[in-house]
Amino acid sequence: MFKICSIGCGAMAQRGHGPAYAKYKKDYPGTVLAACCDINEDRAKKFSEDFGFEAYYTDYIKMLEETNPDVVCLLSPVDLTCPMAVEIIKKGFNIIMEKPPGKNCDEVLTILKAAQENGVNVRTAFNRRYTPLITELKKRIAETGEKIINITYQMYRWHRYDKDFSTTAIHAVDAVKYIASSDYKRVTFDYDFKPKYGENVKNIFINGEFENGVFTQISLVPVGGVVTERLTVNTHANTFFVDLPVWGNIDVPGKLTHIANGREITVITGDMLSNSTEMFELCGFYDENRCFFEHIRHKSETTNDLESAIQSVEIEDYIRKSKTLYKA
Ligand SMILES: NC(=O)c1ccc[n+]([C@@H]2O[C@H](COP(=O)([O-])OP(=O)(O)OC[C@H]3O[C@@H](n4cnc5c(N)ncnc54)[C@H](O)[C@@H]3O)[C@@H](O)[C@H]2O)c1
Repeated sequence: MFKICSIGCGAMAQRGHGPAYAKYKKDYPGTVLAACCDINEDRAKKFSEDFGFEAYYTDYIKMLEETNPDVVCLLSPVDLTCPMAVEIIKKGFNIIMEKPPGKNCDEVLTILKAAQENGVNVRTAFNRRYTPLITELKKRIAETGEKIINITYQMYRWHRYDKDFSTTAIHAVDAVKYIASSDYKRVTFDYDFKPKYGENVKNIFINGEFENGVFTQISLVPVGGVVTERLTVNTHANTFFVDLPVWGNIDVPGKLTHIANGREITVITGDMLSNSTEMFELCGFYDENRCFFEHIRHKSETTNDLESAIQSVEIEDYIRKSKTLYKA
């Protein structure tokens, strides 16, 4: 028996994670969706009914003590991620938490220290890292035998008047770092402030260089006319265009185009890789949860991806504070 508990039954839980847990239970016999929790009782009840949890709670400590799960999924507001994660880890539970794993570097390090002291498995749910099109991209880049020269990433949104867009921007920063397979060495930031749209609303233009020599340009435009995330990767003789699937965007189910020496080699769509048109699969929510659950079930060594998240959170904090130069 493998028991899953989930905390926070808001927007991401409903559309991304709940369907992933239900599919995992169907695909992997012996899985029990033991309980879910939200301080809003109606939300907790609806989530348990929608995805087949056996119980719901409004107090997560009580839930953990009464159900003793094998894994805890933390889908809380960003401000609560660090204190809640530390409490859960100190009780000895394995945990997968939504991104970002803390608001700043200190918070990530606090979670990392708790994880190391308690020897539990910890995963950050950066779903781009598990999006099937990005998994395929990494595989195809490796097959060329060439080094990446540069990566561009454009994240456009419409009507995103958030005072703090950095918790969304981190997806682009982390995805590029993941594709480059290196740490950022130096990053410069330009900001185009849009006060008529609200306090701290800004377009963000990033130029970065990685330790392994890859260059990147990232454009983050929260108030545009479309929801898209499109990226390009160049090697010496190969170019890859990827249009990622994102909720509400025109690119669903997403597409990867590979061009070599000026000739189109492959066009592959997200649904061809997932065998599904469901967003929770196309966007990586199923795979990020499945990989972590399967690791806990079958591997003896503990896994912890927090170190690879530290720099992404650091750069997120630079964007939040409108800083202009980052040096590793
Ligand atoms: N991967 C992605 O693409 C993506 C997109 C958006 C948000 N997120 C992340 O998902 C997380 C949740 O975001 P959301 O948009 O679902 O937020 P949300 O506000 O819709 O949901 C959060 C839920 O947590 C509940 N909650 C608050 N305190 C609690 C407590 N002490 N115990 C139990 N429940 C509690 C709230 O009542 C709410 O229902 C955030 O970390 C955010 O950064 C990820």
